[in-house]
Amino acid sequence: MAEKVLNIQDLSIWYKTYRGMSKVVDHIDMFVNKGEKVGLVGESGCGKTTTMKTILRVIDKDIIHVPNGTVEFNGKNVLKMNKDELLELRRKGASMISQSPMSALNPVFTIGEQLFDIIKFSGQYPKATKAEMIEVAKQAITSVMLSDPDRIMDSYPHQLSGGMRQRICIASSLVTPRDLLIADEPCTALDVTIQDQIHRMLRELVEEKGRSLIMITHSLGVARELVDRIYIMYGGNIVESCRTQDLFDNPSHPYTVGLMECVPRLSGGGLSAGIYGYVPDYVNPPEGCRFCPRCKDAKEICKKKRPPKVEISPEHFVSCFKYAGASASQSEEEGGAEKHE
Ligand SMILES: Nc1ncnc2c1ncn2[C@@H]1O[C@H](COP(=O)(O)OP(=O)(O)OP(=O)(O)O)[C@@H](O)[C@H]1O
Ligand code: SF4
Ligand SMILES: [Mg+2]
Repeated sequence: MAEKVLNIQDLSIWYKTYRGMSKVVDHIDMFVNKGEKVGLVGESGCGKTTTMKTILRVIDKDIIHVPNGTVEFNGKNVLKMNKDELLELRRKGASMISQSPMSALNPVFTIGEQLFDIIKFSGQYPKATKAEMIEVAKQAITSVMLSDPDRIMDSYPHQLSGGMRQRICIASSLVTPRDLLIADEPCTALDVTIQDQIHRMLRELVEEKGRSLIMITHSLGVARELVDRIYIMYGGNIVESCRTQDLFDNPSHPYTVGLMECVPRLSGGGLSAGIYGYVPDYVNPPEGCRFCPRCKDAKEICKKKRPPKVEISPEHFVSCFKYAGASASQSEEEGGAEKHE
């Protein structure tokens, strides 16, 4: 059996807000094997960044509550780690390419100073001289297709373009090696040619160096090119997960089917059917299936009960009553299907 670098089980994450608990992430399961590339796809506001930040425990503990679940990184529960263990996790275990490069970079330090800090903090180059650290930093800068590393090292973030800042964020996640790289929509501010090169670089990094990757993206096309398995997230739930090819051969959850229909086609033919409506209000989420208000296939049971996770073919899981068959009606009678809290 493959070794898991990350194993999330039954995880829920709530934000404490003035309106009450915002129950964003809801009982999710997810794993990443060593050397595997995994995609996390879902529309804006479905909880992707919240989940990933929780892996690194970088959300202020005063604003979140984790009522249930475990997040195991190399076999250790991150949610129970002490300060030193957390430091070790962030130094050597996992790094995250942030979604917002402007807030990730410090405006009052040069790019060089910020990269040196990361190199020093990692503890991976304890005896490196200044010249060696400069070399490591320069290599990271050129690896993200930026020329003139000397100028960039001496620049402050505001002296770079948006796309350059985005690439510096990627470089700062790559400057020291980690087991798991979390890329949170790393290419949104980049043009398509650079996007392509960055995607190739991320794939090579994982394939050649045996690291693991979680690629968060809105684009099914990017996920198709880059990852081995895909998790589809909707309204804080993982609604479908399977091997990448399987998802495109046999998209099964109504939300996944809707997502596929939303992709514009080069052949034209007008606007797609789309998925009407909005992600749920997390303070008062729907009692049953969170996709129910937007689902064309919804039945009575979907309004009341949480859909069970069904393995419709090997390694292909769907959380939907459409696939629950006899067991759904049975659990309905027995009150077996879970209710939202
Ligand atoms: N600090 C916070 N306090 C309260 N709610 C928050 C906080 N941060 C995020 N949220 C809410 O959690 C939900 C999920 O946000 P998150 O950033 O995880 O979504 P996402 O899937 O990453 O979206 P996007 O694709 O736009 O980046 C949103 O409704 C958001 O408003
Ligand atoms: S459980 Fe029901 S409402 Fe939810 S996606 Fe399936 S059919 Fe639609
Ligand atoms: Mg996000």
